[in-house]
Amino acid sequence: MKEQETMRRHIARYVELTAGGERTRHFTAKQPAGMIKLDSGSPSFPTPAHIRAAAQRALDEGLTGYAPGQGDPEFLQAVCETVEREAGARYSPDDVFATSGATSGIYAVFTAFLDPGDEVILLDPTFSLYALVARQLGAVPVFVPHAADYHVDVDAVRAAVTPRTRLVMVNNPNNPTGVVYRRDELEALAKLCAERDLMFVADEAYEKILQPGCAHVPLLSFHDYRDHLILTHTFSKTYAMTGWRLGYVVAPPDLATLLFGVHRSITGPICTFVQRAGAAALRGSQDCVAEMRGEYRKRGSLMHRLALAIPGLHPLDPQGGFYLYARYDHALPARDVRARVWDAGVAIRSGTEFGDAGERHLRFSYSVDEVTIEKGMAVVADVFRQLG
Ligand SMILES: Cc1ncc(COP(=O)(O)O)c(C=O)c1O
Repeated sequence: MKEQETMRRHIARYVELTAGGERTRHFTAKQPAGMIKLDSGSPSFPTPAHIRAAAQRALDEGLTGYAPGQGDPEFLQAVCETVEREAGARYSPDDVFATSGATSGIYAVFTAFLDPGDEVILLDPTFSLYALVARQLGAVPVFVPHAADYHVDVDAVRAAVTPRTRLVMVNNPNNPTGVVYRRDELEALAKLCAERDLMFVADEAYEKILQPGCAHVPLLSFHDYRDHLILTHTFSKTYAMTGWRLGYVVAPPDLATLLFGVHRSITGPICTFVQRAGAAALRGSQDCVAEMRGEYRKRGSLMHRLALAIPGLHPLDPQGGFYLYARYDHALPARDVRARVWDAGVAIRSGTEFGDAGERHLRFSYSVDEVTIEKGMAVVADVFRQLG
């Protein structure tokens, strides 16, 4: 027993430094039964039937061995068709590879470009995975706060570039703010990356989940800068496929095979039957996406209305994704407010999980049904009443 107490395991330096961060703690915390989940990144919808059927067909055809090369040819082709349709950009299947959701694609891209001490520019706040992965690699996330309207402060990004900068990573629509970036700010970043020889990486996980009047500008539509563009994409949100673990990366021809080589040693190839489901999702009717979008619109405006009615809470208008981001007036740090709400039975995320600019902000998810939103926001209103 004594020996065990004094035993100190060797943990790799950067893993040890990053263990126990807010993101990791969130995923390892046990949520009590009955918790109202306004923290979820998972759509509440089942995966549409025609997508499930495609996977079943592939299984019945015996497609259960290793997938070939960078992915199933049908899948890679379907991705190229989609990119051409949506971004007007021609890519070859050789420029694409299948990934396990967006997560492994992001890991591969960061691993390929970031030596220890290298820098990746992140807009603050942003999806918390990026900084964690960078730190796990010994690289440095350089957070650049958004402008007051939560859009990109291009001059601040320019000023943050140093000789160690390798990547600019953007999440559009942004998680947690829900902001959908405009063409001009994205183009300015693309131009900056080309001038300074950086890679501009975009994660467009929520591109199809848009509120009325919001338009998404795809990264790959900046054709003049294509040598500097990398898209990491996922089926998780658009097609309610979080558990399937499917995504893809699109990269310039000279980089795709290199990146795939890194990715291959993280997950091995992605299941062929899952890729066939992905091809069916991309090539099939998009009515299911429109239906889910319609639901998110209702949920988003319900949550926004309920949040607006809470004194001291100032939600942004929902734009993209299924998160409501809200500033609050109270002096208590976001971690503590999140803890108070959690103790009252509602799981939410603190703004600071997504960067220092998230202080005095909270993130609420409306991926859940309207009854859950109503119950959860009533508890949040109580907590804010108690906070005074
Ligand atoms: C912006 C963003 N990117 C990527 C992911 C990861 O998704 P997955 O690995 O399931 O594709 C998430 C999940 O919440 C996300 O919010």
